[in-house]
Amino acid sequence: MKMKQVAFLFLIFLASQTVHSWKKDEFRACDQTPFCKRARFRKPGACTLIAHDVSISDGDLTAKLIPKAPHDQDQDQIKPLTLSVSVYQDGIMRLKIDEDPSLDPPKKRFQVADVVVSEFETKKLWLQSASAEKINGDDGGLSSVVYLSDGYEAVLRHDPFEVYVREKAGNRRVVSLNSHGLFDFEQLRVKKEDEDWEERFRGHTDTRPYGPQSISFDVSFYGSDFVYGIPEHASSFALKPTRGPGVEESEPFRLFNLDVFEYLHESPFGIYGSIPFMVSHGKSGQSSGFFWLNAAEMQIDVLAKGWDAEGGILMPTEQSRIDTFWMSEAGIVDTFFFVGPGPKDVVKQYVSVTGLPAMPQLFSTGYHQCRWNYRDEEDVENVDSKFDEHDIPYDVLWLDIEHTDGKRYFTWDKMLFPHPEEMQRKLAAKGRHMVTIVDPHIKRDESFHLHKDASQRGYYVKDATGKDYDGWCWPGSSSYPDMLNPEIRSWWAEKFSYDNYVGSTPSLYIWNDMNEPSVFNGPEVTMPRDALHLGGVEHRELHNAYGYYFHMATAEGLLKRGDGKDRPFVLSRAFFAGSQRYGAVWTGDNSADWDHLRVSVPMVLTLGLTGMTFSGADVGGFFGNPEPELLVRWYQLGAYYPFFRGHAHHDTKRREPWLFGERNTALMRDAIRIRYTLLPYFYTLFREANVSGVPVVRPLWMEFPSDEAAFSNDEAFMVGNSLLVQGIYTAG
Ligand SMILES: *[C@@H]1O[C@H](CO)[C@@H](O)[C@H](O)[C@H]1NC(C)=O
Repeated sequence: MKMKQVAFLFLIFLASQTVHSWKKDEFRACDQTPFCKRARFRKPGACTLIAHDVSISDGDLTAKLIPKAPHDQDQDQIKPLTLSVSVYQDGIMRLKIDEDPSLDPPKKRFQVADVVVSEFETKKLWLQSASAEKINGDDGGLSSVVYLSDGYEAVLRHDPFEVYVREKAGNRRVVSLNSHGLFDFEQLRVKKEDEDWEERFRGHTDTRPYGPQSISFDVSFYGSDFVYGIPEHASSFALKPTRGPGVEESEPFRLFNLDVFEYLHESPFGIYGSIPFMVSHGKSGQSSGFFWLNAAEMQIDVLAKGWDAEGGILMPTEQSRIDTFWMSEAGIVDTFFFVGPGPKDVVKQYVSVTGLPAMPQLFSTGYHQCRWNYRDEEDVENVDSKFDEHDIPYDVLWLDIEHTDGKRYFTWDKMLFPHPEEMQRKLAAKGRHMVTIVDPHIKRDESFHLHKDASQRGYYVKDATGKDYDGWCWPGSSSYPDMLNPEIRSWWAEKFSYDNYVGSTPSLYIWNDMNEPSVFNGPEVTMPRDALHLGGVEHRELHNAYGYYFHMATAEGLLKRGDGKDRPFVLSRAFFAGSQRYGAVWTGDNSADWDHLRVSVPMVLTLGLTGMTFSGADVGGFFGNPEPELLVRWYQLGAYYPFFRGHAHHDTKRREPWLFGERNTALMRDAIRIRYTLLPYFYTLFREANVSGVPVVRPLWMEFPSDEAAFSNDEAFMVGNSLLVQGIYTAG
C-alpha cells in the first residue's frame, strides 16, 4: 500500500472510532473516587453510633449520636451529631442528621435551599410525646416510637441507632435506615500535618480544602421486589443489583450531572440530571419511597439478596426486602421516608415535598421541530411551509446555538437572522411558536454587555483562588453566573424582558442546554469541585443542583417578562429534585439506534415517577443518521412521550418527516396526527399531574399494582389510565 492510502485508512479508522466513543477514561469510576471506594469497603455492623439524650423538642423527636465505646482516635472525630425526626401529614417522615453547630465545626455544611416547597412546613405535625418500647431479644435495648399517621409510626432504635417507619398493625416495617450498621458521617476537622487532602484526576487537581466529609448509609425497603427511580441513567426501569451474590459487580448508580458525549444505552453511569429519590414496589401491591435531599456527587448500590450473609445484623425475615447503600461526597443527611401504600400515593407524597409539576401551555404539548441548526430565516420559512404543504401539524420551531452572534446568548447572528421579530411574527400568525437556546456559559468578551455586567457585579462562580472561574465551552473562554445566589437569579431573569432580549417577542420561549454545567476543559467535562459559590459554598456541595437553579431563574424570567399570566416554557437538560416546577426536560444527546429508542421508555418512565412528568427523548436520535424505518418507529413511539420533539446533530443529514418518500411521510404524518388527536387527553393528564403529581406516562404497575408480570416490564407503558402503548424496538 502506498503511504497515502495508509494515511487515508488511518483517518477512516480514527473517524470510525468516534462513532461509538463513550470515553470511559474521562470519567471517574467508584474506585477512582476515594469517598466511594472507602464507603464500599465498609462492612455491615461497622457503625457504633448510639442515640443519646432522646427527647421531644420543638415538635420533633431529637437525639445526639455518639459512639458507643470511646474511640481511641482523635477527639475531634467523635463529636456528637444531632439527629431529628419530624413527621408530616399524609405519611411523610423526615430524618435529619448534621454536625452540631454549637460545637463550632470548621464550616457549616451545605443544606440544599429552595427545593422543599414552603407549603410543606405547614403540614408538619407537632409531636407531643414518644413512647418507649423494649426490643425483644435485644437485651433490653430501647426504641422511641412516635405517631406518623393513623396507620403508621416512626421508630428510633437507640443502640445501635436505626430509624424506620412501620405499619401499626402487625408492626410490619416499610422503610428503614442503618439497619445494617453501615452509617458513616465524616466530620469536618482540622487538617493534620502529614495529611494530603488533594485529589488528582487526569491532570486536574481538586484542592479539597475541607478534607473528607462524605456520608453513607444503608436503606432497606420491605415488602419490596423491585426498586426504581434515581434518574438519570440510561438503563432498565427496575434497577438491577450492582453488588452481591450472583451479580456481576458493577459500578454503583452514579448521580453526578455530566455532559456525557455519546452515552451508552445500558449503564449505571450518571448523565445530565440527578434526583436522589427511590421508589420500591412488591407483590403486596404496595409501594414506598425514600428521598435524600443532597446535591453533592452521590453513588447508590442496589444490593442483591444475601449480600449481608456474613456479619449482618439480624433483620426481620418474614418480609421480602431490598437493601440499598447510599454514598454522598458532602452535605448533610436530610431524608424523607414515604409510606405509600399505593404507587400513586408515594408520588403524591414526594411532590408534596418538592412541588407539583408546572402546567404546560397547550402548544408545548404538541410536536416540536428542532435541529442543530436551522441555518437562517429562509431555512426557517421553508421548513415551516413544508409542514403545511405536507399537511403535518407542528407547533414549535427551534433554533440551536448557531442562531446567535458568536454564541453570545440573547443575541442574533445579523447575517443569518436579520429580522428575528418578523420571523417570529410570521410563525405566530399561524399560531406557532419559536424556541431559542440560552446556555449558562457566558463568553468572556469585554464588548459583550452581559459579560461586562456580570463581571463588574462579581456575579460569576469563583475558582478556588477567588478569581472568576474561566472555563472552555461553545464560545471559547467562558464564565458561569452563580445561580445559587437569589440576587443573581433575579438579575438573570431580567435578561428575558423584551427590552433586554432584543429581537424576542411573546411567542418566543427558551431552551437551557449545557447546564450541568458542561465545561469542555474541566474535570469530567464539568466545573471543578473546589470552585466557589455564594457564602463560600463549594461547587462539590451543590453540583447536582446548579442546572436546577439555572432552569428556575430562566423560568422566572419568562414569567416576569409579561403580565405574569403567560405560563413559561423552558426545556432543560440538567435537572434536580424539584425541577418539575420549572418546565420540561429531555434525555439529552442520544443516538440514532434501536437500543436508544428502546431505552428512552425506561428513562421517560423513571423521570415521571420522580416528579419530572414533562419529558421526552430526541425523536430520531441526536447522533447519527437513522434508517427511515427507525425514524418512523421513533415517531410512532415519540408521539406518546409527554414531550415530543425531533432533533438532530449538525453533522447528520436533514431528516424532516417529508424527506424519506411518500410512504414514510404518510407514516410519520399519521403518528404526529394521532398525537394531535389525543391532545385533549394529554392536556387533561398534564393537569392531573399538575394537581396530584401522578405522571402523564406511567409504568404498568402504577395502574395495575398487583400484576407481578408488569413489575419489570419497561417496553410497554400507560398514558394516563386508559391507553397502553407498546413500542416496536427492532427492525422488520
Ligand atoms: C399548576 O401549574 C401552575 C403553572 O405552572 C403552577 O403555578 C401551580 O402551582 C401548579 N399547581 C396547581 C395545583 O395549580
